[in-house]
Order: sequence, then C-alpha cells, then structure tokens
Amino acid sequence: MANLGVLTSLANQDDVIFIDKLTHASLIDAARFCGATVRVFPHNNTEKLERLLERYADARRRLIVTDSVFSMDGDVADLPKLCALAAKYDAITVVDEAHGTGVLGEHGSGLCELQNVTDQVDIVISTASKALGSLGGIVTAQEPVIKTLINHARSLIYTTAPPPSQVACIAAALDAITSEPQRRIRLAELSKRVREAVMQKGFVLPATTVQTPIIPLITGESDAAIALSTHLNQQGIHAPAIRPPTVAPNAARVRLSLRCDLTDEHVDQLIKAFASAPKA
Ligand SMILES: Cc1ncc(COP(=O)(O)O)c(C=O)c1O
Repeated sequence: MANLGVLTSLANQDDVIFIDKLTHASLIDAARFCGATVRVFPHNNTEKLERLLERYADARRRLIVTDSVFSMDGDVADLPKLCALAAKYDAITVVDEAHGTGVLGEHGSGLCELQNVTDQVDIVISTASKALGSLGGIVTAQEPVIKTLINHARSLIYTTAPPPSQVACIAAALDAITSEPQRRIRLAELSKRVREAVMQKGFVLPATTVQTPIIPLITGESDAAIALSTHLNQQGIHAPAIRPPTVAPNAARVRLSLRCDLTDEHVDQLIKAFASAPKA
C-alpha cells in the first residue's frame, strides 16, 4: 500500500518509471497502475538503464525504482550507481528497503546506509512486516514529499490508521534496531556461514556484494524445488519452494530466510539437512 501510495502520488501519464526487472511485484503493479510509461530494465543492468534515461530525457519526471535487497534472490542493487545516474539525468530515486531495514548498515537503516547514499536517495519505502516483526508501510523522504503523500496517497487517505498497539510494536522494534546492533552482527555471521555451506553443496548463488540473509537454493525445475522443500521440512526446516510466476520460468527455488535468533545448533541442523538433500 505504501508503494502504491508513493508511485500514484508522484507519477502519472506525463512521467516515466524505470524499474529493475526483479523489483517486488507491489512496486511493479503500482508503476503500472499510476499511468506512467513503465520501462523495465534487466536486473542490475545500469548500462541499459542509462540508455533508457537518455531516451526519455523529455518526460516531465523520471523515477528510478528498485528494491535494495531483492526479495527472491537475496542480492542487492548498486545504489551509488543508480544515484549517480539519477543526478546525471535529473531523475528521482525510489528504493524499497523492505529487506534492508534493521538488517544492513551500521545503525540498521538499510542498504542506503551501508552503501553510503542516504543523502542521495530521494524516497525510501520500507515495511514493518519483516525485521520489525509487525505490519505497516513506512516512507521516508524530504518534508515536501511526505506532505504530498499525506494529501494525495489514496491508499493512505482511505484506509484506517494502524492501531496504537501496532505502532507501539514498531516503536519498540526501532529501539531494538538502534540499541542492539549485536542482532545484525549475528545475522551477518549466520548468513555468511549458511551461504558458504550452500555453495559447498553445489548451489550457485546470485552474485552479490552483500551477504544478505535471503539465500535462494535455485533448482530450476519446480518439482525439484518442491522435493527439496519437502526434504528440508521433514528435517524440521521451514523453507518454502518458490515457483513461476513468482520467479522466472526454470528458476524455481527454495528460499531460505535467516533470523538472528537461530542458534548454532539450528544452523548445524540446516547444514546437515543439505548434506542429505536430493541432488541439486
Ligand atoms: C521488497 C518488498 N517490498 C514490499 C513487500 C510488501 O511488504 P508487506 O508484506 O509488509 O506489505 C515485500 C514483501 O512482502 C517485499 O519483499
């Protein structure tokens, strides 16, 4: 709903939205719905993005839209490069930090903080539903943008505000993110360990500059993903199979998503479960 509110408030048929192919469906749908021309660029392909930006130099507004951490691949965007292109072609940057908030950056602000572009990204959207353990969309931007959203975002205006109990949960989670960095450090250690074990088992992980806790075990065939997910489930590990159309044809996978409160024994159990998994 936050993604819908942002794009429908800031873009219309006079504008062009450039969106990474692997960006979350909620942003792709919002881009289509707002009436702007939508140009999808190949995943993390900033050369292609630049050619598109050149081509649409006359549009009223250009918005570059991406996830920070890609939800099904666990790799990350090159935000410094996107911001440099935005500066060169006078575009607005919109970054969905759903999987970065609370997880990445020294203070847990996300990939923008980690890649040192907090001051350059125009609009950051996030959710309280992942690291914050609650529900609710979050938008951070300069005050004029926020005022525009408050007055124009129909998905905000025409829905009930979050109840106080939920807001209290979010506030407590934000406090924990600020005051308990050890959770992030632990999660990063676990991510590194599991990623190494997964690669040893012969899975090829999407190339990434940041070892995030989203780790896809790409099987290709849907049946293989279901078999692997079932196998892990029998070993006490909940890791769902993700199949087309959520991912591209022949790119089915089991999606591991780690949490900081997993014990070493849990991770041993996961790694042992791979050892006895059906062939990748
Ligand atoms: C990148 C991304 N953006 C947005 C969302 C939507 O968040 P929510 O489920 O809190 O509405 C998700 C996942 O659900 C996501 O992975």
